[in-house]
Amino acid sequence: MPDVPTPPGTVRRVGQWAVGTSRGEDFAVSRRCRHQLADLSKGTVDADGCLVCPWHASRYDVRTGRMVDGPRGFLFYRGPTPGYSALVLGYAKHLALRVGRVVRTAGRITVQR
Ligand code: FES
Repeated sequence: MPDVPTPPGTVRRVGQWAVGTSRGEDFAVSRRCRHQLADLSKGTVDADGCLVCPWHASRYDVRTGRMVDGPRGFLFYRGPTPGYSALVLGYAKHLALRVGRVVRTAGRITVQR
């Protein structure tokens, strides 16, 4: 993919990866949320540098791929779901996102495992 500037807080798709910048560092993680498989390349990076899922706002540590906050909702519902959120967070600890390494060369951006 051409290496064009990415506005702060945004994420983009590079093949099977969600790529962005967190705390000044490039990151790449696999694209499917561990909750209901939303495309994380359509997510955002919050003020803490976590990747936020576009559907129910689960948050991920992009350095480890681990979910750090569970979803706020399910299916088409968006709102508080404390028990359910804790349940998803519990099982997601065993299903971290894959973490890749972003390589910028000759005006192109690629991801290596
Ligand atoms: S699909 Fe990502 S939080 Fe629900």
